[in-house]
Amino acid sequence: MADSDLWLFGYGSLIWRPDFPYRQKQVATIDGWSRRFWQGSHDHRGLPEAPGRVVTLVPTPAATCGGVAFQIEAGHQREIFDQLDYREKNGYERLEVRCELADGNQVNCVTYIAGDTNEAFLGEAPLADIARQIQGAHGPSGSNLDYLLELAAALRELGIADTHVFALCDLVSRQ
Ligand code: SIN
Repeated sequence: MADSDLWLFGYGSLIWRPDFPYRQKQVATIDGWSRRFWQGSHDHRGLPEAPGRVVTLVPTPAATCGGVAFQIEAGHQREIFDQLDYREKNGYERLEVRCELADGNQVNCVTYIAGDTNEAFLGEAPLADIARQIQGAHGPSGSNLDYLLELAAALRELGIADTHVFALCDLVSRQ
């Protein structure tokens, strides 16, 4: 690996729609975090007056979260992070996390996290309420339901289990 390459950990839409060039990608895990539909989306999968819900990472001491790590060449980093800072602008901030790659290597990764003090943070709610909100929300990037279903399909395809995401899928299929 070139010294100047950098890794990015994606756990939401970045898994199935990275939209940037990368040298390689690997399934990866980070310890101490769980993926939750606790972040409001006013600009992608909802509207200011009817926000949707998208995923963020929530500190959870005993948990491990699976996602995808992308290796990004030095020459592309500036352009890619400018683009991602814009895409993730509704409350997400870059944070460095330690990541275990599927090949057994450990790397530091940049990830986008929407913390609980950002204005768009919605936080925990009963799963049935989250499912209902996801089913009803639409925004410029498409329906909130598609976001959930695309994420769940991508996780299944990669062999990543996530009880929160899969439980929401069961609920929306029943509602
Ligand atoms: C991510 O995918 O890593 C961040 C959250 C999102 O854009 O869905």
